[in-house]
Amino acid sequence: MYTEKGRLPMSIPATMRALQQMSLQGPQDMRLITDAPVPSPGRGEVLVRVIAAGINFADISKAHGTFLDGPQPPYLAGFEAVGEIVAVGESVTGLRPGDRVAGVGDGAFAEYMVLPAVAAMPVPPGWTDQQALGLAVNWPTALAALKPLGDISTGQTVLVHAAAGATGQAAVRMAKHYGATVIATASPDKHETVLALGADHILDSRGADIAAEVLRLTGGIGVDLVLESAGGSTFAASLAAAKRVTGRVVVYGLAGGEASLTNWELVYKHQVHVIGFNIGVLIQAAPQIFGEVMGELSGLVATGVLAPTRPTAYELADGPKALAELEARATVGKLALIP
Ligand SMILES: NC(=O)c1ccc[n+]([C@@H]2O[C@H](COP(=O)([O-])OP(=O)(O)OC[C@H]3O[C@@H](n4cnc5c(N)ncnc54)[C@H](OP(=O)(O)O)[C@@H]3O)[C@@H](O)[C@H]2O)c1
Repeated sequence: MYTEKGRLPMSIPATMRALQQMSLQGPQDMRLITDAPVPSPGRGEVLVRVIAAGINFADISKAHGTFLDGPQPPYLAGFEAVGEIVAVGESVTGLRPGDRVAGVGDGAFAEYMVLPAVAAMPVPPGWTDQQALGLAVNWPTALAALKPLGDISTGQTVLVHAAAGATGQAAVRMAKHYGATVIATASPDKHETVLALGADHILDSRGADIAAEVLRLTGGIGVDLVLESAGGSTFAASLAAAKRVTGRVVVYGLAGGEASLTNWELVYKHQVHVIGFNIGVLIQAAPQIFGEVMGELSGLVATGVLAPTRPTAYELADGPKALAELEARATVGKLALIP
């Protein structure tokens, strides 16, 4: 809450530690600074003391300058966090200092950040702050890809790439909950993790002939839905693995790089539904669908379908190392930075 003269409470410092991205050459050009100004919450915003920041693949895309309209260096990195509200801006209702919330804004790899109040979600009762990482980005992404976009239903088969990752793990759990058969891909050392989540089949994301394996597992007809976040050469395998005529390929990531698809291929080779998806655009352009996704997500949390995550935690200064590991496919599940 602001003091009378519109200043932040005395207990909040003027400057803070934060990770600043210095170039568009990648996360190795991210450095720890100690004199970043603590931001002030504007109208409709809250200031949180960051308890844990979530690391996402998009942090890597931003650091390489491949994120559309991404920030220009130098910028404070990170965008997802769970924290305690320490001040609220004008016109904020329903949130108070002391509340613990998860949300998305600019500069999460820092001791303090500002979040839009409308999108701040309470940490579920009984969960630690770190356990709620995923609530704001990975889980809604997985759920929107599966349901409103992917139209998953009982008895269908879904191919989930990067199934050991933060988004992929949630997708596997939810797809099983909706009664689907799950064929997952992951690096070999992550296979146990994915099978423990309930996946029915697991393929090597680095070495397998994914299209051939999926066709073998589905009696030659392919899967009803592909959650396509791998990109690169795997993109063609995903198209070939989808069922002709009715199969859907939801494209929402390109960890392995860009890949193209021509109209000739759609007519003669891959008669499938290709659906582009970006959670930020979903929120802006289809708020009603996003609201439905978040409502459904609350139910999945309340009924225990989505259990609290146990992120791998790194100190703030080790942010570049954590991002390098994510980029090198060496991580499992959610990663957190603790400022
Ligand atoms: N469109 C959206 O709105 C949206 C929102 C959230 C996330 N995403 C996308 O969803 C995907 C998962 O994001 P996340 O943050 O949860 O990350 P993550 O899945 O925890 O980590 C990325 C994983 O992708 C897999 N991968 C496959 N090919 C890769 C390659 N060439 N280079 C690096 N990794 C590769 C790796 O798993 P294996 O080694 O096990 O194969 C890696 O561990 C990303 O592509 C991200 O951009 C999109």
